[in-house]
Amino acid sequence: MARIAVVAGDGIGPEVVAQARKVIDAVVPDVQATEYDLGAARYHRTGEVLPDSVLAELAEHDAILLGAVGDPSVPPGVLERGLLLTLRFAFDQYVNLRPSRLWPGTTGPLGGVKPGEVDLVVVREGTEGLYAGAGGSLHRGTPAEIATEESLNTRHGVERVIRDAFARAERREERKVTLVHKTNVLTHAGSLWARTFADVAAEHPDVTTEYQHVDAAAMFLVTQPQRYDVLVTDNLFGDILTDIAAAVTGGIGLAASGSINPEGAYPSMFEPVHGSAPDIAGRGLADPVAAVLSAALLLDQLGHPEPAARITAAVAAELIGRAPGAPMRTEDVGDRLAAYAAG
Ligand code: NAD
Ligand code: IPM
Ligand code: MN
Repeated sequence: MARIAVVAGDGIGPEVVAQARKVIDAVVPDVQATEYDLGAARYHRTGEVLPDSVLAELAEHDAILLGAVGDPSVPPGVLERGLLLTLRFAFDQYVNLRPSRLWPGTTGPLGGVKPGEVDLVVVREGTEGLYAGAGGSLHRGTPAEIATEESLNTRHGVERVIRDAFARAERREERKVTLVHKTNVLTHAGSLWARTFADVAAEHPDVTTEYQHVDAAAMFLVTQPQRYDVLVTDNLFGDILTDIAAAVTGGIGLAASGSINPEGAYPSMFEPVHGSAPDIAGRGLADPVAAVLSAALLLDQLGHPEPAARITAAVAAELIGRAPGAPMRTEDVGDRLAAYAAG
C-alpha cells in the first residue's frame, strides 16, 4: 500500500487537493494519505514553517501531493523558500517535470494550432540555478543599496538533468531535445550547459537536438508551440517558460508537475504549476484539473500506470465537455472526474 503525504497549503491549495484526493481514492482505494498542516496558517499560529521533525516524517512517505504555498499575509519568500524550495532541495528533486499538451476541447491563443499538435515536456532543473545561489544586499534601504543573487550551476547538477531529458526523449515518438539557455550573455553557466548538452547528445545519436536562447524560446512557445518535444533548461528559465506553456495549452488551471528524485532515494513531490491564487481562493472557482493531473503523475511514478491513465482519460472527457468561458465549480469538476475515472 502506498503512503502519501498531503500538503494542501494555502489559498486554493486545499480546494484543489481535496478534488485530487477524491480522484485518487476513486482509482486506487488503498492509498494511505496523511495530511500535514503546513503553510500560512501554521506560520501565523506557531511561527514555524517546516519543523525538522515534520521534514523527517515527510521523508518516510512514498510521495508527496502538494497544493500551493504562499499567502499575501506572509512576507514573500518565507513560505516559498522555507517550505516549497526546502522540500525540493532536501529531497533532491532535481527533475522538475512539467508536461503541456493542447487537449481536445481546449484552444490555444493561436487559432491555427489544433489539439493534439502540442505535446511537449519541460524538464526544468529543480535544485540549482538562481534558486540555490548565494545572495546578499548592502546598504539596504538607502540610495546606495546593492543586491546580488548568484546562479549556482554544477557539472553534476547540469549533467544529471540533461541526462534525464535525453532518457525521456528516447521514450517519446519525436525524440527531440531543445536546450534553452542564454549562452550569449550568461557565458559561464551557459557554457557549462552547452558543453554538457553536447557531451550527453553525443551518446544519443538517434535524438535530434537544438539550442535556443530563452527569449526566442519564450516567443516560439507562444507562436509555434508545436515545434517542441522535450525542453531542458535551468530552474528560473523553466519556471517562467512553464507558465507560458500552460497559458498556450488551455491555462494555468490545467498545468501539472512533478518535482522528482529519479533515484527514489527521497520522495518525489507532485504539485500544480500554479500558486495559491489569493484572488479566487475560498470561492470554489479554482480549476482542480492541474492538481488532479499531478495526482496522475504521482500514481504513475508509484507504479500505477493504469489508474493514472484512467485519470488522464477522465480529464480528456471533462475538457471536451466544457463550454468555453462557462462558469465552473471546483467541486463539480472533481466529482465528474472521480466518477468518470472510477468507470
Ligand atoms: P498563481 O498561479 O497563484 O495565480 C496567477 C493567476 O492564475 C491568478 O489570477 C489566479 O487566479 C489564476 N489561477 C491560478 N491557479 C488557478 C486555478 N487552478 N484555476 C483558475 N485560476 C487559477 O500565481 P501568483 O498570483 O503569482 O502567486 C500567488 C501566490 O502563490 C504567491 O504567494 C506565490 O509565491 C505562490 N506560488 C506558489 C506556487 C506553488 O506552491 N507551487 C506556485 C506559484 C506561485
Ligand atoms: C513554481 C513556483 C515556485 C517556483 C515558487 C513558489 C517558489 O513558482 O512551482 O513554479 O518558482 O519554483
Ligand atoms: Mn512558477
